[in-house]
Amino acid sequence: MSNPRYLVTAALPYSNNRLHVGHIAGAYLPADIYVRYLRARGHDVRFICGSDDNGVAALKSAREEGVSVEALTAKYNRSQRESFAGLGINFDIFGGTHQPGFVETHERLSQEFFLRIHEKGLFTKRTTRQLYDLEAQQFLPDRFVTGTCPFCKSPGAYGDQCENCNRVMEQTELINPISTMTGTTPEPRETTHWFLRLDQLQDRLATWLREKKDPQKADAQWRAIVINQSVGRIESEGLPERAMTRDMSWGVPVPLNDPDAAGKVLYVWFDAPIGYVSFTSVLCDQLGEGADGYRDWWMNPDCRVVNFIGEDNIVFHAITFPAMMLATHESDSIQGEAGEYQLPHNVVANAFLNFKFPGQDEEKMSKSRGTALWIEDYLEAYDPDPLRYYLTAIAPEQQRAAFEMADFVSRNNGELLAALGNLVNRTLTFAHKYFDGKVPDPGERDTFDREHLERCRKQVARVTEELEACRFKSALEEMMVLARHGNGYFDATKPFQTRKTDMAACGRAVNVCLQTVRTLTTVMAPFLPFSAERCLRMLGLDESALGWDTASDELPAGHALGETEYLVKKLDPDEVLGVA
Ligand code: 2FM
Ligand code: ZN
Repeated sequence: MSNPRYLVTAALPYSNNRLHVGHIAGAYLPADIYVRYLRARGHDVRFICGSDDNGVAALKSAREEGVSVEALTAKYNRSQRESFAGLGINFDIFGGTHQPGFVETHERLSQEFFLRIHEKGLFTKRTTRQLYDLEAQQFLPDRFVTGTCPFCKSPGAYGDQCENCNRVMEQTELINPISTMTGTTPEPRETTHWFLRLDQLQDRLATWLREKKDPQKADAQWRAIVINQSVGRIESEGLPERAMTRDMSWGVPVPLNDPDAAGKVLYVWFDAPIGYVSFTSVLCDQLGEGADGYRDWWMNPDCRVVNFIGEDNIVFHAITFPAMMLATHESDSIQGEAGEYQLPHNVVANAFLNFKFPGQDEEKMSKSRGTALWIEDYLEAYDPDPLRYYLTAIAPEQQRAAFEMADFVSRNNGELLAALGNLVNRTLTFAHKYFDGKVPDPGERDTFDREHLERCRKQVARVTEELEACRFKSALEEMMVLARHGNGYFDATKPFQTRKTDMAACGRAVNVCLQTVRTLTTVMAPFLPFSAERCLRMLGLDESALGWDTASDELPAGHALGETEYLVKKLDPDEVLGVA
């Protein structure tokens, strides 16, 4: 595959809430950095997201807010779309599994998926006992029931998954289950559902997953957190069958002509990942490629699908969705032949980002406890790039991390402004003041100049290596090393002194500093796109300068620079935004 195309997905946020910084750090910002990088490398990329509207999450919140579930999901779909745009996270399409313009395609593709698996005999129809609320007179799927996790014993686990240890379960395994609808203790009652034969698929899944941790075999080495929560689980416990249908009416109807299917919908974790596919289909249609154009991405061995998710989504992206895809295959090839759904090239997961108030222990981001910083509120007070910088600098790539307001301000002032902002602004200001806003003549470069420029080229290679491996935090650190090299060079060559004694030496140094800023502009762009845009204007360049392979191309002597603008604003530690 010489120049593969990429289909990058970011987890579909539930449309029952606004977005906070934890969501952004988990999946969306790393996905956006990766997409910007891939595009700068010249890859053909589609970047897909949209809201997860079906399932209990939206239904429960709609009841709490006293509005229809359609109105609720439309409201949050819009709010999320705006938050993403404000942060420069630019999807090619932002759909919604129950939004007008998407719901028809989504239901059709989800039902086709279900029927295909049904046809292949990989569902078992089974009557089991599920929890029933006598007062509400209904079954209690998923988030409608809560209790103590049978695995980690923490309270507040939902009927399908524990939010603390991420383990999935049957709701009847919950200890002391309580209905979240009425607060009563539910009783088990019989009902019929369709269970995916994960037991039949587990060997193929395990073979495929084991390769992802093998550096000899994997074309992308998966993160340990993903391997542990997928292949680790299969090896220790095996995969039981899992119900893929639910007793409720909000969602995608079960497409079977069977009286037992009446009044039932697909499990939200069955239809949600198909949202990636259905939104791709709508996008292809919008681009004039036809609604079947999604096949050129999802069923094309020359396309790499990369999923960005939070830790609680690992089991569904590394086990359930790949199992669903495998279950549709005719061929025995694990990856899938051309024309069959291709298993993901990489599933990139981050751990949770907690919140930390000064002097207190860190805690989970939560609306009710006021431990979250909402993106809408953030954007009213600050520029997007400082948040993009901070969330990447503390990215929970290996383990959970915590957002601290004071740390955000101090890293903005002490790192982003002190290293990057400072280099750009003093270089440009100097060139305007003493060289008439033009790139000075490089003259005869000495060893020190040449070594510095060589060091910059090496830094670009380091950033590239880290981005290729999806190590975004470390890629950002390497980008900042480049800025620090620039400052080191500026300080060592002292153009502020040589301008009085040796104008040629001064011009040489400013030329090299401008070349450094030019390289930095391309390399900062995936992380800090708004700042990169300002740098382009200041350097008198256009977007074509963001092509990754030309990052080290030099600005010619005499090139006219643009107006100087601020790059990074200093934040006042005494005026930090409150959280709510
Ligand atoms: O955890 C969540 O927010 C889920 N709504 C993610 C769904 S990802 C996908 F598969 F749709
Ligand atoms: Zn648990």
